[in-house]
Amino acid sequence: MKHIAVIGVGYVGLTTAACLAELGHHVTGVDMDEGKIVLLRQGQIPFIEPELPELVERNVRAGRLNFTTSYQEAMRHADMAFICVGTPPTPSGHADMSQVEEAARQVAIAATQPLIVVLKSTTPPGGNAERVADILAQHLSPGINAPLVVNPEFLREGSAVYDTFHPDRAVIGAWDSAAAEEVAALYTPLRCPVLLTDPASAQLTKYASNAFLATKISFINEISRIAERVGANIHAIAQGMGFDERIGAEFLESGLGYGGSCFPKDVLALSAIAEQQGYYSQFLHAVTDINAGQCSLAVAKLGDALGGFHGKAVCVLGLAFKPQTDDVRESPALSVISMLCQQGAVVQAYDPAAISTAQKVLPPHAALGYCADAYAAARGCHAVLIATSWPEFRNLDWPRVHSSMAGKAVMDGRGLLSPDEMRGMGFEYLAFAN
Ligand code: UDX
Repeated sequence: MKHIAVIGVGYVGLTTAACLAELGHHVTGVDMDEGKIVLLRQGQIPFIEPELPELVERNVRAGRLNFTTSYQEAMRHADMAFICVGTPPTPSGHADMSQVEEAARQVAIAATQPLIVVLKSTTPPGGNAERVADILAQHLSPGINAPLVVNPEFLREGSAVYDTFHPDRAVIGAWDSAAAEEVAALYTPLRCPVLLTDPASAQLTKYASNAFLATKISFINEISRIAERVGANIHAIAQGMGFDERIGAEFLESGLGYGGSCFPKDVLALSAIAEQQGYYSQFLHAVTDINAGQCSLAVAKLGDALGGFHGKAVCVLGLAFKPQTDDVRESPALSVISMLCQQGAVVQAYDPAAISTAQKVLPPHAALGYCADAYAAARGCHAVLIATSWPEFRNLDWPRVHSSMAGKAVMDGRGLLSPDEMRGMGFEYLAFAN
């Protein structure tokens, strides 16, 4: 059993903290956001994540999980400190390292005994791990040693707890092999492959993994543009490709493209890392460009079907960047809504979880309203656009939706529905290459 401080209790930090506590460690989560700490102490989670509330509550009750705003308190007995703060993109696409550097400084100042510092935040290779190690060395009290270990996170929002307990692998990058072994030992109960490597390779593995998954999505979206021109069906193609184990069936769903806090920022950051080293990655730019084009394509298809958006009402189903989350960061749904409003449509939006998060981000617009359910959102509309693949949208009473609408167009931006069934019900069904 270790004493572990987790710095930053957002998605990655809170999940890491709760899962380490569940494995029997004594964990203290520290965050500068006092409001968040107050909520967590009351057993409330500041975002939606399946299984996490129960896990946090159980471990807080068992005395294995605590929260504080004080580094001193969190670091008092810490054998390890996990840095899990954000690395948001700067305007030039680089990862902003300021939160990581400040966390490293605070950890070093508060450390009273030797410990291992584990960098879970996604950080670019090319000097950042070295810089964090330098900051630690500069601020540690004399005689205290704190080797740095890079251990990137691969969890998905919406299944973060499951992913943490069932990892495909652990990637551990360190200059100090004893410290690497100690971090590797944390993964022993999870029985996953553990790759021990150097910090730069561990950092780049994270970016390369996310960029590869984003590539699969942009690739299938590129193929859907070609498929549409030759009258082929993208779902059949994805299925046929996916049977090949070298390709794999996942991340071949074509549609509005990827969003979220990771893929868009990590592909951009990887391009920026390359450019900083004097290399322009045409490939990564293409991945981003194809993704950015999907929302405009969907809106253009719908605009053609409606004969323009002036005087038209469009119901947008879905605001979150994917189902099972209230996260709207970089959500394609929000891009689509902005385009529709700009082009003169009235938008009625609904999402099972993400209305309040969307309202905080989307500027209020006279032509944009939020509805209590999907039926209310569709009522009186000329078209429905599905922007997030929430399963409940598949199971709607679509004949009821049809009878309440002023038009009959459905743009299925996530390939969620059966084209034949929808057309059979009298809808004008639009999608990518169907
Ligand atoms: C991702 C990675 O999966 C995870 O390993 C990494 O650590 C963090 O980034 P996450 O951002 O939670 O996780 O979302 P993910 O489930 O990967 O989906 C990302 C986006 O891609 C969503 O907007 C989703 O709708 C879209 N997507 C996914 C597609 O458009 N098509 C697909 O086939 C799969």
